[in-house]
Amino acid sequence: MAVMPIIVAPDPRLKIKAKSIDKVDDAVRTLMDDMLDTMYSANGIGLAAPQVGDDRRVIVVDVARQDEDPAPMYMANPQIVDVGDDDRIHEEGCLSLPEHFAEVTRPDRVKIRYLDRDNKIREIEADELLSTCIQHEIDHLDGILFVDHVSALKRNMILRKLVKAKKLAQQPA
Ligand code: NI
Repeated sequence: MAVMPIIVAPDPRLKIKAKSIDKVDDAVRTLMDDMLDTMYSANGIGLAAPQVGDDRRVIVVDVARQDEDPAPMYMANPQIVDVGDDDRIHEEGCLSLPEHFAEVTRPDRVKIRYLDRDNKIREIEADELLSTCIQHEIDHLDGILFVDHVSALKRNMILRKLVKAKKLAQQPA
């Protein structure tokens, strides 16, 4: 179990198309566990492998509230196999775009097929926050950030601020 550094946008490593894995073995389980630690330590509800510099199609999610027991989900090769008719608008954030938020519209209900931590094929239906979160994380596996779903004006404003923040962080004290 280890906490890994999270890559902040803009960064080419966040724009890759991640590769499917053959099976969830011990190496993938270690990645999943480290990603979950990393996500919890950053108070996030989802994390995708490219955000920690890994190019495999792996995500972790936990949308349990603070007053609920943790409910971690580990998914390899997650795939949206069905989509409901209704939309849901949610103000999204991202550990790779710290302190920035924007409303994104996505399908409210999705059916997801994936390999779980034990390499079993699973299919679940998700709605509300879980649905939004899983779709956001699957996007990461295809190099898509939530800002890619908003207007160019808003996207460029956020990206410029992130570039400025990175430059400030690099300046000697
Ligand atoms: Ni994100």
